[in-house]
Amino acid sequence: MTMRPVIAIDGPAAAGKGTLARRLAAELGLPYLDTGLLYRAVGRLVLDAGNDPKDPTAAEAAARALQPTDLERGDLRGPMADAAASAVAAVPGVRSALLEFQRGFGAERGAVLDGRDIGTVIFPDAPAKLFVTASPEERARRRWLELSAKGETADPAAVERDLRARDARDEARATAPLRPAEDAMVLDTTTLDAEAAFAAALAAVRAKLSL
Ligand code: DC
Repeated sequence: MTMRPVIAIDGPAAAGKGTLARRLAAELGLPYLDTGLLYRAVGRLVLDAGNDPKDPTAAEAAARALQPTDLERGDLRGPMADAAASAVAAVPGVRSALLEFQRGFGAERGAVLDGRDIGTVIFPDAPAKLFVTASPEERARRRWLELSAKGETADPAAVERDLRARDARDEARATAPLRPAEDAMVLDTTTLDAEAAFAAALAAVRAKLSL
């Protein structure tokens, strides 16, 4: 086993993978990369330029122009950013433009990366892979609670509809669709609270890495 492993955390929107991945990284002393932010930032750049996130030429140009500081923008969350990210993520040229950055990030010092295709495309040889999921209803409930906690008023039905639409787009795209790697451990958090989900994830990763 490598001393600086790459841990791949994939799964659908609002399954809790970000929280899990961040905690795993802190626990294991590894850097953490939220790869969704890359797609979100590309989506925002396309919108800033007045272009359509579904336009492959505009989306790829934005991905190639992406700068690290773009990941620190304050407007990368919310329904518009969600939809733009999911749209640019379906463009093959965007995915290939972002591939080397992600590989470089993990290869240097090991890392925990969360996203949709970390275990299938970015690091197919990662020694530990988790696919974190939960029922669409539960994920929509969590996303709604998150929005409400931020003081945003959201219609629960609209939140669930947007989430299902994003899942469908992420699963149906031809390039790097959302799906568990064959060797991923599937962790269904529908009935788990954050603490129980973290304990299960940590146990699975430790077992995989013989830690
Ligand atoms: O994880 P997130 O919700 O921040 O991701 C935003 C969008 O980016 C999501 O709809 C799919 C896409 N994405 C992707 O295609 N591949 C990744 N590795 C991460 C995110």
